[in-house]
Amino acid sequence: MSKILVTGGAGFIGSTLVDKLIAEGNEVIVIDNLFSGKKEYLNSAARFYEVDIISPDIKKIFQTEKFEIVYHLAAQMEVSKSMENPMFDLDVNLRGAFNILENCRQSGVKKLIFSSTGGAIYGESEERPTPESAPAYPVSFYGIHKLTFEKYLNCYYQVYGFDYTILRFANVYGPRQFKGGEAGVVSIFVDNAVENKTSIQYGDGLQTRDFVYIDDVVKALVAAKDVTYQGEINIGSGQESSLLDIRRDISRALGEKIKVQEKPGKPGEQRRSCLSYQRAQEILNWEPTVNLTEGIDRTITWAKHKNIPK
Ligand SMILES: NC(=O)c1ccc[n+]([C@@H]2O[C@H](COP(=O)([O-])OP(=O)(O)OC[C@H]3O[C@@H](n4cnc5c(N)ncnc54)[C@H](O)[C@@H]3O)[C@@H](O)[C@H]2O)c1
Repeated sequence: MSKILVTGGAGFIGSTLVDKLIAEGNEVIVIDNLFSGKKEYLNSAARFYEVDIISPDIKKIFQTEKFEIVYHLAAQMEVSKSMENPMFDLDVNLRGAFNILENCRQSGVKKLIFSSTGGAIYGESEERPTPESAPAYPVSFYGIHKLTFEKYLNCYYQVYGFDYTILRFANVYGPRQFKGGEAGVVSIFVDNAVENKTSIQYGDGLQTRDFVYIDDVVKALVAAKDVTYQGEINIGSGQESSLLDIRRDISRALGEKIKVQEKPGKPGEQRRSCLSYQRAQEILNWEPTVNLTEGIDRTITWAKHKNIPK
């Protein structure tokens, strides 16, 4: 069992990962400034530091705790916010990430696992499902900063021998998802439907995304700490689903048509996205197990009862 830091451990993916790592018997520490994370999601068995990843105080935490493994998940994760305020995105997603990385090196951390993005790195790829070898020309500052940090990791490996693995997530969905997030379309539609509110659909609804369920993503994150692979691994379902598919699945699960208002599409919005998970199969022995219908059912059950952990 290991001593593990999870940055962003009060967030959607981070808090679910923390629960799993603790259930497996690891000692887990969380760093989070609660920008979008929630105290209610923090596992009470985890030690919690409420601090910004950019802060110089991070150094003292690393020197005191001496982590073995670090999951770096803390991020500003909205593409549109990165376009409105590129400097803020750069501060959190690059300077903050670099602060974590440099402290890993200085304090003797064995490995860092980084949550990158498959949805915002490849752009409008010709090849779908898109493999990791596809050209990466992001069309957002969020994507650029994620990709740049991937390069920092590789540089640290080449120069210092520092071990890492990168997971490039598709659109993750499920219980605890932050509603402000753009990737949160399933959560937003589910929440509105359960509360009998109207959701807004931009565009014709035929735009596609690759939706991957939270529990599958956590399985991939856990597996990543035990493999030796200094590179990028896509974590997606390999399936393209449209917004209309999502509407239909939620309506089916609830037994009635959900309320949706249609508005014109947003300029520059990506039309299609879908990731190949072949490399994840080879390296992590991972494949998605929860399909969209099942995942939506589970998300609805959670949204109806909102079982927030103590
Ligand atoms: N959700 C998705 O579909 C998706 C897709 C691709 C990649 N990712 C990546 O996965 C990671 C987790 O995303 P999520 O969906 O759980 O989002 P989230 O917003 O729920 O979690 C991010 C966490 O980071 C914390 N945080 C933000 N800025 C911070 C700072 N400056 N200092 C300390 N903590 C800070 C937030 O409070 C939050 O708890 C992010 O790195 C995100 O970019 C998510």
